[in-house]
Amino acid sequence: MTALLLNGKELAAKKREQLKKDVDQLTTENVIPGLAVILVGEDPASQSYVKAKQKACEQAGIHSVLIKKPDTITEEELLSDIERLNEDNSIDGILVQLPIPKHISEQAVIEKIAPEKDVDGFHPINIGKMMVGEETFLPCTPYGVVEMLKEAKIDLVGKHVVVVGRSNIVGKPVGQLLLNEHATVTYCHSRTKNLREMTNLADILIVAIGRANFINADDVKPGAVVVDVGINRVDGKLCGDVDFDSVKEKASYLTPVPGGVGPMTITMLLENTVQSARKRL
Ligand code: GUN
Repeated sequence: MTALLLNGKELAAKKREQLKKDVDQLTTENVIPGLAVILVGEDPASQSYVKAKQKACEQAGIHSVLIKKPDTITEEELLSDIERLNEDNSIDGILVQLPIPKHISEQAVIEKIAPEKDVDGFHPINIGKMMVGEETFLPCTPYGVVEMLKEAKIDLVGKHVVVVGRSNIVGKPVGQLLLNEHATVTYCHSRTKNLREMTNLADILIVAIGRANFINADDVKPGAVVVDVGINRVDGKLCGDVDFDSVKEKASYLTPVPGGVGPMTITMLLENTVQSARKRL
């Protein structure tokens, strides 16, 4: 079997075309969606993600503001920058690119962002709403994963989803969103015993552990759907958490890296920003 590709790049382009139309419509009603991104420090990966977010905003007609801060910034200064953006009526979404320096509490920063501008969907209020199935901003990467599975018409009801990774950004929320779609969800992580036995039970395997080529064909049930959320750099080349070449011979569907989940993450950020701006009408 050779897996069909879950092409995030293509779906992202289709969604961004529609978003641009939505932004044009909002603009005619004098609402220009605005996203503020705060980047602390000089981490090269964060710099490149932020650049990609800004470019995507520009192409969609979303007003984007980049606020760069040195890694010596204090927590108090960063919180007061966020406070200013909370009060700025031209800004619909606020995102602090993670990770931030260790001397600043990540949770304090996340909780400072007004929940109604939290387009990352990381604020505990928004996470709580997601858990009970209330409408809210959904975390962008998990939201993008669910959109990709739905676009490919992959039935989720009653399916066994195994999530490898338990980060607050991806692992935990993607499991919750798929539970909301009536899947049966198992979480695995770096300390899970008999990981291979667990992953081999998956109808849908979501891998977000942050280790290059961590999952190979022996970890995958024949015909499983495999979603690779990893972005790792090995010898200057991007690769995922899944060994693409071996798994593509065993899975029914597989996401490539690059061109899979990555473009969807940014697209869902734009979607959340536009959703936030609509509330101004
Ligand atoms: N760092 C890696 N992914 C993300 C994300 O989705 N949002 C933010 N704010 N930081 C990140």
